Amino acid sequence: MKKIIVANWKANPDSLYKAEAILRGYQKHISFFKQADCVICPPLVLVPLLISRIQLFGARAGAQNVASISGGTYTGEVSASMIKSVGVTYAIIGHSERRKMGEMDDVINQKILQALKAGLIPIVAVGESEKNEDAHHILDIQVKAALRGVSASRARKILFAYEPRWAISKGVHDTRGSGDTPEHAIEKMIYIRRILANAYGAAMAQKARVLYGGSVRASTVAPFVKKGYGFDGVLVGGASLNPREFAKLVRAVIL
Ligand code: PGA
Repeated sequence: MKKIIVANWKANPDSLYKAEAILRGYQKHISFFKQADCVICPPLVLVPLLISRIQLFGARAGAQNVASISGGTYTGEVSASMIKSVGVTYAIIGHSERRKMGEMDDVINQKILQALKAGLIPIVAVGESEKNEDAHHILDIQVKAALRGVSASRARKILFAYEPRWAISKGVHDTRGSGDTPEHAIEKMIYIRRILANAYGAAMAQKARVLYGGSVRASTVAPFVKKGYGFDGVLVGGASLNPREFAKLVRAVIL
């Protein structure tokens, strides 16, 4: 199975022109991109303008958020079905930067239910905020809350991303970041699979795809996605805004 590489552009870049330039940069390395399942998540307003270029190199588009409601009198919200209707395939839900803005587990659960109903594949970000927190306890709460009311057949579609907030970089210029160690992160991946096994059985947990996120760089990614016991892919923020670094990263993942 191909590894999944999710590019989370966050609130960057600040214009359509610059976004197109990033994609032109990616395009130079099209042969690498085709060997992974790449998901590009630009700011939502740019997605309809970029989607044909994204699909050109075999990647899919993702949203960075969806509304917790299906539509109606909610000024400023964008529903999962609206997002799906412009050709988006994935949606990041519960990112720690959104949790920090006040997004709670019950809202995240509603967003996951909306995304699944609309046919989007949720990429659910989970993990502790501070290094000294009890990660297993937090994963227990977050993963269980995310899955409330989700049937086994729908749960299979969800991707989980273990992305502790303390490991996230400060963006494209933070070239070293303070990411997690592969050993610590892989232990958390195993724990997420244990929660899934308790909820839906061992077979489902084994097949579930779990990603790592937090300061992923070309020079450090390989041990996270090691064949056999590594993660199924990575969620990349800062490094995805630099096409040359991102192409190197994709290459390191597929090798
Ligand atoms: P980072 O961001 O790769 O810049 O640490 C990852 C993310 O927040 O999704």
